[in-house]
Amino acid sequence: MSLIEKTVLVTGGSRGIGRSIALLFAKEGANVIINYTKDEEGATDVIKEIESLGVKGLAIKANISKAEEVDKMIDEIKENFDRVDILINNAGITKDGLFIGMKERDWDKVMEVNLKGVFLCTKAVIRKMIKQKHGKIINISSIVGIIGNPGQVNYSASKAGVIGFTKSLAREVASRNITVNAIAPGFIETDMTKILPEDVKRNMVETIPMKKYGKPEDVANLAVFLSSDKADYITGQVIHVDGGMAM
Ligand code: NAI
Repeated sequence: MSLIEKTVLVTGGSRGIGRSIALLFAKEGANVIINYTKDEEGATDVIKEIESLGVKGLAIKANISKAEEVDKMIDEIKENFDRVDILINNAGITKDGLFIGMKERDWDKVMEVNLKGVFLCTKAVIRKMIKQKHGKIINISSIVGIIGNPGQVNYSASKAGVIGFTKSLAREVASRNITVNAIAPGFIETDMTKILPEDVKRNMVETIPMKKYGKPEDVANLAVFLSSDKADYITGQVIHVDGGMAM
């Protein structure tokens, strides 16, 4: 599953699932660009690890929900790399709360990062992919976008949106040899889920047929597979990595 000479952009790659994806791509021989918003230290550490594997790494500070910052990020990428072969739309946030008390700004913020961010980053790379007649786009959705979750109306709507985006774009660009797929993780142990109350986590594990949480590497393994030529005939799919939580 060699990704030698490929260049991948992983949004939100300084920690959690994004970090794990970035490192696995580097192990497979790809050059890796990560973006981050605040965590410069985390991003620098990831780049050091990437470069120690003998491939090129670059960290770019950019808020993916702002068009001008995404444009600047793409300019910096163009200065350093000939092309982007693979885009992993991973960055995402939660602003949880029951719907009855949900603030408009918490709705907007989640939509801006989780859905508009996917739009902006994809828009920024797709023209070049069409020209080069090759590209892989992988969007990190969530099973919550499929089965819903109390307290996450904004988040699940954004992640369901990502699935609709994935399927429509997959249909638009399939003939250009570009595949677009979504990964729907279940409960993965990262900083995002660490903040959940212990009782919520205990109850959650009971709903997982495999009775354990997933690891960032479980998601990274699928991202690498979907980006490889072994997955050239797979597009428009939503693949769960959830220990059987949603079937
Ligand atoms: P995390 O909170 O550990 O990492 C999220 C990353 O996104 C961070 O690096 C953060 O800096 C970055 N980010 C946030 N807002 C950004 C912005 N405006 N611009 C650029 N980067 C930004 O979260 P985790 O768990 O690693 O999640 C990664 C993705 O997987 C997210 O899209 C999340 O919704 C999704 N996911 C996570 C699950 C889990 O159980 N951890 C389950 C299902 C989906």
